[in-house]
Amino acid sequence: MESKKIAVVTGALGGIGSAIVKELVNANCFVVAVASPRRTSADIDAWLNEQSINPAAVHGIFLDVTDHEACQQQLNDVIDEFGRIDILVNNAGITRDTSFKKMTLTQWQEVIDTNFNSMFNMTHPVFAHMCANKSGRIINISSVNGQKGQFGQANYSAAKAGMIGFSKALAYEGARAGVTVNVVAPGYTATPMVEKMRDDVLESIKAQVPMQRLATPTEVAQSVAYLASEQAAYITGETLAINGGLYMN
Ligand code: CAA
Ligand code: NAP
Repeated sequence: MESKKIAVVTGALGGIGSAIVKELVNANCFVVAVASPRRTSADIDAWLNEQSINPAAVHGIFLDVTDHEACQQQLNDVIDEFGRIDILVNNAGITRDTSFKKMTLTQWQEVIDTNFNSMFNMTHPVFAHMCANKSGRIINISSVNGQKGQFGQANYSAAKAGMIGFSKALAYEGARAGVTVNVVAPGYTATPMVEKMRDDVLESIKAQVPMQRLATPTEVAQSVAYLASEQAAYITGETLAINGGLYMN
């Protein structure tokens, strides 16, 4: 444990989250896997088994990332228990797609709370700690649709674009302490989030991707592991697009 970096990953049991956990474990990290309170310990055991992840390299916790006090409390507990947090990956997210005319305040707020305000809740308790340690990696999972916008996603595109501005601002504040803050912006990736889309809409989007296919969760996760590594020490405030050419900034 002494030589391992301690990483916290939200949305750990989801499609991209699972791949991130695996890549970080492969990179010799100890991962605190944040599951939503909708999950149980049995779900975590089943997930570790299904994903063939070494249980000794992972500690599961249950946390609603929209709950500010709970995030503060549980992250303080993680720091007390494991001594430090070296890497934070803000990955939990949801969609509530609908045209803006039909969008309810609830659909707006749920997406902003889960995808955007969660970043404050998770990062605030960890950032000062990383600065004091004079090292840290914060990686925020945005989306191609935060970069280019998308019909039916005014809430989601706003949240995902906001993550990029937040990350650039925080990159300035962390730089002198060696704390990097970066964004990974995946394109359409084969996970349960995309499986919820209407088949015809997804097919028409795939046809617009120059590479004509979805990303795999592993392709996204490998870029996260890179940004978390020593090799990426001089990269900060950057947004890495993994989108098969769907949007070139
Ligand atoms: N472009 C242009 N016009 C569109 C459109 C589009 N993409 N989608 C719908 N419209 C039009 C419809 O033709 C319709 O026009 P009329 O009123 O003239 O008939 C009008 O908009 C309203 O259509 P709907 O009643 O179907 O609208 P809706 O509010 O029920 O929902 C939608 C529309 C299902 C959200 C649809 O726009 C859609 O699926 N958009 C894509 C959303 C998307 O890409 N989601 C990604 C989820 S995964 C993810 O988010 C991961 C990631 O980061 C990539
Ligand atoms: P996913 O499989 O649906 O995973 C999302 C995860 O977030 C789930 O494990 C979910 O937990 C968790 N979560 C949701 N609300 C939460 C809350 N309030 N508290 C704690 N955890 C919560 O989706 P995914 O595709 O892997 O998405 C991961 C991230 O990538 C998201 O931020 C998404 O926006 C982003 N992204 C995805 C794509 C794509 O095409 N798939 C593209 C670009 C960006 P439960 O399962 O327990 O509900």
